[in-house]
Amino acid sequence: MTESTPQRDWSSEFDIDPNVVFLNHAAFGPVTNRGRRAIESYMARWGQFAEGPDVDQESFAMLEQARSDFAAMIDGDDRRVAYLSNTTLGLNTVLWGMNLERGERLLIPEVEFPAIVYVAQQIARERELQLDVLPCPDGHFTPEDLETALQQTTAALVFSWVQYFNGYRYDLQTIADMCHRHGCFTMVDATQGVGAVPMSARESGIDALACGAQKWLFGQPGSGFLYIAPDPIRRVQPLYAGWLGVDWSYRFHDLRRWDRPPYEDGRQWEVGTYPYCALRFAQTGLELLRECGLPDIWRRIQGLHRQLQTGLDGTQYRALTFPEQHASGIITIDGPRIDELQTTLAAQKIFTSLREGTVRVSPHFYNTEHDIDRLITAIHEFNRS
Ligand SMILES: Cc1ncc(COP(=O)(O)O)c(C=O)c1O
Repeated sequence: MTESTPQRDWSSEFDIDPNVVFLNHAAFGPVTNRGRRAIESYMARWGQFAEGPDVDQESFAMLEQARSDFAAMIDGDDRRVAYLSNTTLGLNTVLWGMNLERGERLLIPEVEFPAIVYVAQQIARERELQLDVLPCPDGHFTPEDLETALQQTTAALVFSWVQYFNGYRYDLQTIADMCHRHGCFTMVDATQGVGAVPMSARESGIDALACGAQKWLFGQPGSGFLYIAPDPIRRVQPLYAGWLGVDWSYRFHDLRRWDRPPYEDGRQWEVGTYPYCALRFAQTGLELLRECGLPDIWRRIQGLHRQLQTGLDGTQYRALTFPEQHASGIITIDGPRIDELQTTLAAQKIFTSLREGTVRVSPHFYNTEHDIDRLITAIHEFNRS
């Protein structure tokens, strides 16, 4: 047995086939029953029009709640959170909005998820910036590598808090402090960390963070958020304007007023009518995580990781993770015939991902010791085959 807080049985929250072991939250989260019920009831109310011809009041209240729920996940100021449909949009919003100028320097790690890479490359081309890469010989950069790179004036560092393929988690405060000492903006893609590991955007001092909700947050694709610190080291100008970016006090009967000032809070980075269903669904995921509590979630995931690591003793396979301060919800399995191992697991309905030559395992808080036992048993069998 591992230390398994919380002990509660969460199975009624999901409708996952009893033969399936789902260990792939770094790819996407499962559909929650409470999310499905919330969408059904929202759609039913909308469909009936029993409470009037539109659902604006309810939907806008939901939006406000969602921004503050997202903010709570990262311990950030909810007035600085914008709803955005994915991480990539958040990265674009910040990096284009910084108005970088010709010759300025943008820094990304040598090893990174492509969401950052393609945005950085395009901005560098269009704005004639210098795009530099930080060496990552062990799958991540070190503070020493960063200190060396920052000897050259750098406008922004863009990196993932947790690396998608090996689960390495950077210490945000160390990096933000270092960047700020050199006048460099810290832009974080936190998609692989938020919901699994507790964090504080406030205390870390990062300038901006983008996060999708479809993985560890139990949202659906099309839901995510952007956070920009109250006093970022460089201003981020909104790229677009929108009629919902100004204050109508949610009363839309006099739309010929063209003199309304833009919002100054997170809504300045949002544009147009919202995907309410995706948002409603995401909200229920955040509610579930809140009920469980992020510190307990993180302890629980770590316990499952330890069970996997010791369970592989006696095989040719090793479960790799990093020391606690750099560990995350992702643990990887290394060993011979790795592609074949992953497809063999999938054939037994044990779902993981193959990433950059290892099997990526990403359990969440509701996974059980029994789930990990099934994975361990399957690997032992494969090892003997
Ligand atoms: C680190 C990281 N960032 C971003 C994404 C996805 O970005 P988007 O939601 O914009 O497609 C992923 C995975 O899909 C990821 O692993």
